[in-house]
Amino acid sequence: MPSTDSSPKPVDSQINGESEGDHHRPVLPVAFLRRIAERARTLAGEFAAAGDRAGWLREQIRWRWFTYRHRHEAAANRAFDARYGVDTATDVPLADAGVPASEVARCNGIYRAVTESAFRAALAAVPVDPSDYTFVDVGSGKGKALLLAAEFGFRDVIGIEYAIGLHRVAERNLARWRQRSTAQASPRSVHHDALTYPLPDGPLLVFVFNALAPALMRQLVDALDRRATDRPAEPLILVYVNLRHVREIGDALAGAVSLRTRVRRRHHVVLANTAAGV
Ligand SMILES: C[S@@+](CC[C@H](N)C(=O)[O-])C[C@H]1O[C@@H](n2cnc3c(N)ncnc32)[C@H](O)[C@@H]1O
Repeated sequence: MPSTDSSPKPVDSQINGESEGDHHRPVLPVAFLRRIAERARTLAGEFAAAGDRAGWLREQIRWRWFTYRHRHEAAANRAFDARYGVDTATDVPLADAGVPASEVARCNGIYRAVTESAFRAALAAVPVDPSDYTFVDVGSGKGKALLLAAEFGFRDVIGIEYAIGLHRVAERNLARWRQRSTAQASPRSVHHDALTYPLPDGPLLVFVFNALAPALMRQLVDALDRRATDRPAEPLILVYVNLRHVREIGDALAGAVSLRTRVRRRHHVVLANTAAGV
């Protein structure tokens, strides 16, 4: 995962090594331009030395685009927190949030909030009336997807989180959000392992933002597929989101009998049974 460090860089006068008496001189100049020239020389050298130049260029573009997007998303995440007076934007290694080391290896190792844009894009691919559905977030962390789902108009909103530290932050966030929101639903966070939590009856939309390693994701899909087979008249939808690429989950979403892939894009996959009508 990329670093999310966005702390302010030292002021230019420090970068340029100017003394106090130099402050009347322009700040940007020589050292900065020299750095750009050095960087350009390094890149030109790498390009010249690359065996596969087209591949090298593709990799550069991909990396730069990822970095740009990450900065943009980090700013949007902070703006979301400011809007509701909550704390969801900061990443947390799960080992620091009360998850035992043996468990950390079974999931993706880190708490990171879903971005509002990825959440909205994924749900836009699911043309159902949210007020008919209970939204369940598998691995709900600090509760951001719960807040988004409640604003979206789901009938009921439940988050299942097994890291006690994150669950507590989620409860605080939900309390703060309630003071500012006019949404009807009253989202809640449950401290539990999502794979053993008994899901509520009725139409369900199960949301997973990159919470589980492929083997556990497969277990979840199998369990949901069994439920869909046992209850053919009850709408069941699974939305999987990945900010890098859904192929990271491998074939964990394939092979279900009653749940079928309805939408597959770079950042989300939607599985649903026939009763969901998706
Ligand atoms: C990438 S974060 C997603 C947070 C949240 N869903 C969101 O979209 O903002 C994944 C979360 O899943 C949790 N998690 C992983 N495996 C879990 C499990 N088996 N049961 C409950 N929570 C789990 C982690 O502790 C982490 O908070």
